Amino acid sequence: MWIIKKAVKVFGIFLCGFIVFLMFYLALTQDGGYHKDIKIEKEQDKVFQSEEEKKLLDLKNSVVNTKPTSKLYASKCSACHGRGGEGRFDDEGTVIFPPIAAKPYDFILNRVNNYKEGKISNPLMAALLKNMKDEDLEALADEISKFEIEQ
Ligand code: HEC
Repeated sequence: MWIIKKAVKVFGIFLCGFIVFLMFYLALTQDGGYHKDIKIEKEQDKVFQSEEEKKLLDLKNSVVNTKPTSKLYASKCSACHGRGGEGRFDDEGTVIFPPIAAKPYDFILNRVNNYKEGKISNPLMAALLKNMKDEDLEALADEISKFEIEQ
């Protein structure tokens, strides 16, 4: 008989523990209505903020071509030729780095290969292109030839 009593007792303790666990679990995972309201408000704040940010972004976009470019272009070429291939000029309008956006594919590839092989002497471009693969240069020429020029 004592075995049955003991079993009932153990089961009771186990059940209590389980119920307490369940209560904690529910309390921690369920969201009360109150909390939900706060969340919605925050969500709206977010939308508002990002709209302000969007206006700022639009303003920036109207100044420079910020079309997303490949990582390769951004890391290898954009520092000199500009984020959208627009080139760089000094205050008098003299070319520092020539614009390359929307130039024909063959022109870009040809130039780049000429720099790489030293046919056109330019230490900057030659050093930069030395370790670049042909297929990367082809991809770049293709990408740059498709850049849009914003007025
Ligand atoms: C360190 C600065 C610099 C970087 C980085 C650079 N270039 Fe140049 N690039 C120049 C300069 C300077 C010239 C002009 C050279 C000349 O007049 O011979 C030039 C010229 C060119 C031209 C010829 C433009 C023309 O109208 O004659 C092309 C095409 C070109 N670069 C493509 C690229 C590509 C593609 C990359 C990225 C892989 C790149 N450049 C990275 C400085 C740079």
